[in-house]
Amino acid sequence: MLKWAGGKRKLLPSMIERIPDNFNRYVEPFVGGGAMFFELRSRNLITGAVLSDVNSDLISLYTIIRDKPGQLIESLGDIDYGNNREDFNRAREEFNSDPLPVRKAALMIYLNRHCFNGLYRVNFSGKFNVPFGRYNNPVIPGKEQIMEVSGSLKNVDLKCCDFENSIREAREGDFVYLDPPYQPISETSSFTSYSSGGFGEKEQRRLAKIFRDASSSGVFLMISNSDSPLIRELYSDFKISNILAARNINSNGKGRGKINEVLITNY
Ligand SMILES: C[S@@+](CC[C@H](N)C(=O)[O-])C[C@H]1O[C@@H](n2cnc3c(N)ncnc32)[C@H](O)[C@@H]1O
Repeated sequence: MLKWAGGKRKLLPSMIERIPDNFNRYVEPFVGGGAMFFELRSRNLITGAVLSDVNSDLISLYTIIRDKPGQLIESLGDIDYGNNREDFNRAREEFNSDPLPVRKAALMIYLNRHCFNGLYRVNFSGKFNVPFGRYNNPVIPGKEQIMEVSGSLKNVDLKCCDFENSIREAREGDFVYLDPPYQPISETSSFTSYSSGGFGEKEQRRLAKIFRDASSSGVFLMISNSDSPLIRELYSDFKISNILAARNINSNGKGRGKINEVLITNY
């Protein structure tokens, strides 16, 4: 439902092919737009799930969609900002001024549909600062779509936390899918500021260590990342498959196009 940097829609067929045959709970610690979760759900491959992300506005939005879809639909109907830069800037200012949670969730959907590339980025004081996106005809999700997403989120445990907490909670037989911010292949392809923390080599190393720990506890793990030397080194003990993805995350036009991604599993 949300546009999200690093959204996995195009890679879903290759990923679904590689999920374990049988598993207990589904856990997704970098949920973002949740492309994998919603696909597994629509194919009835999972019932419940644990979804988490460090982005508190995102988790609060999903919680409102799950628990108060009617109020959210009403609040979306009350939004009268249009598709122009002045209105967009006013909506962004209102979002950053901490309105009530349902209103904030509705504004987040408006911003997601009208901002540049559907990005979510904050400045050092935690204020959303993505510029206007200039789309011809942005569509705000309607009642049916919100109700459908709300249905998919029933029985889902939503948490705002660092990936380490949710991976450590996974038990033997659970399936954890990890889609961290990618290790940049070149300096210009860096797009790691989803939240004020950033995600550099240190974070990739911390993640790889927790991946190994969870693997030795019998958890099924799958991780996607860019095909970079660091990632190949960190996961050299596991099964690494190449997949080609068309990505358009770079604002620098030259960086657009196909980059190699890897999908790594411990099974
Ligand atoms: C590549 S995106 C995930 C995209 C998602 N798979 C999709 O289909 O839209 C990475 C996500 O990781 C989150 N993130 C960044 N650092 C994190 C951390 N330390 N712990 C948990 N989540 C984090 C970001 O907020 C972002 O939503």
